[in-house]
Amino acid sequence: MREELVRTTLMTGATGFLGNFVLRDLLQRGRRVVAILRAPLADRRERLLGLLQEIGLDARRCMENGQLILIEGGLPDSLPEPTWGRTDDILHNAASLELFTNGDPQGDPYRTNVEGAMAMLQWADRHEVKRVLAVSTAYTCGWNDGVIPEAFHDPAPQFQTDYEKSKWTAEMLFREWSRRNGRTLTVCRPSFLVGDSETGYTSQFAGFYQLARLVGVLKQQYHDPNNGTRTYIPLRIPGNPEDVQNVVPVDFVSRLIAEIVVRPQYQGRIYHLTNPQPPTNDLMKRCYEDYFGLHGGFFAPPDEVVGKCSPAESLLWDQYSLLTPRVVHTPQFDTSHTQEVMRDLGITFPALDKDRILRLFDWAARRNWGRSSSNSRKLDPVRIAHPRRPHDVPSDSQTKKS
Ligand SMILES: NC(=O)c1ccc[n+]([C@@H]2O[C@H](COP(=O)([O-])OP(=O)(O)OC[C@H]3O[C@@H](n4cnc5c(N)ncnc54)[C@H](OP(=O)(O)O)[C@@H]3O)[C@@H](O)[C@H]2O)c1
Repeated sequence: MREELVRTTLMTGATGFLGNFVLRDLLQRGRRVVAILRAPLADRRERLLGLLQEIGLDARRCMENGQLILIEGGLPDSLPEPTWGRTDDILHNAASLELFTNGDPQGDPYRTNVEGAMAMLQWADRHEVKRVLAVSTAYTCGWNDGVIPEAFHDPAPQFQTDYEKSKWTAEMLFREWSRRNGRTLTVCRPSFLVGDSETGYTSQFAGFYQLARLVGVLKQQYHDPNNGTRTYIPLRIPGNPEDVQNVVPVDFVSRLIAEIVVRPQYQGRIYHLTNPQPPTNDLMKRCYEDYFGLHGGFFAPPDEVVGKCSPAESLLWDQYSLLTPRVVHTPQFDTSHTQEVMRDLGITFPALDKDRILRLFDWAARRNWGRSSSNSRKLDPVRIAHPRRPHDVPSDSQTKKS
């Protein structure tokens, strides 16, 4: 590969769920990528190559022809020197997904997400890189209500988690950096990631999948083989049938990020990479019923159910706070910038209809919900614990570590 002819992206977080897909999509678009992997490099490299193989990319060939360079480094204090030549832009995707600091406010998620962002920007300055694309989260909006704009949230919202706050703080650092002349900052904000919309593949088995796994356990425990294939369980479901959860397929998010990285005309703004028509609780209920062969569930106000469960309900809802992201706060995300790119490039959103949701379940179930595959990542912290109103700040003992 002739280095002087191709543009080079320095990327963090390539070994992560989203990072695997974005790296694949960038390489498939001919981008030269230098990916920073944590130590020990040999282990991380083997895991990354295995994960990329699973999503259809033989990355060894890219390494052989110099299109992919894997280099050891970590955030915030061990970033590598650029032995690979020029860096045209940085795709900063790495993050700690810990929801809460665990007694040490300077530890993760702050350390990786805030100090890491700062270190990345200092690196950019030292090496005269003027284009940065930062992967953030749609939930830097915290508790803000209504339609959330594709803009920085200033003043600071009230946050549900330390994770959100750390990502918001990082956005502020990026914004400050971009104010100097000649710099271009792009921020991509996905909502909750789920697997590939076509194959169902996932390497992350957080809240969405954990709830489905428990519904499967419920079915096994209450199924009577003499009573047909459908199992009747009169189970109360805490929530409103019309409420939605903004889950978004990883392949859609990664494609948008890759298109924006390789097309400078779309850079310099904020993108909500969210689901324009998120599945309702009612649709999710029908998916669980069909996939697992259940009936008898009905919606009820959370206050009447949580803490007052029957044995069957207990199995699911004792962990309600860890399983159902943002059930009481479901903002609407403006996606004007994202829609513009989609229109220009003819990209359609892979709607999460029943077929696709069942495919996601099925893929994860065949992988034993992330418990058996050697390549799958350890269970990530459930993204959003039972949402707390701003006055109800969690103590350290309530934090959830993976
Ligand atoms: N997953 C979601 O639902 C979601 C939703 C919205 C936004 N996002 C954002 O999307 C991005 C990717 O998330 P993901 O779900 O793919 O996360 P992930 O699977 O947990 O991957 C995180 C990546 O960051 C790397 N990393 C973590 N701490 C690091 C450190 N101190 N130094 C260097 N690398 C470090 C990890 O490396 P190792 O493999 O070595 O651990 C891994 O490659 C993040 O910015 C996240 O905030 C994710």
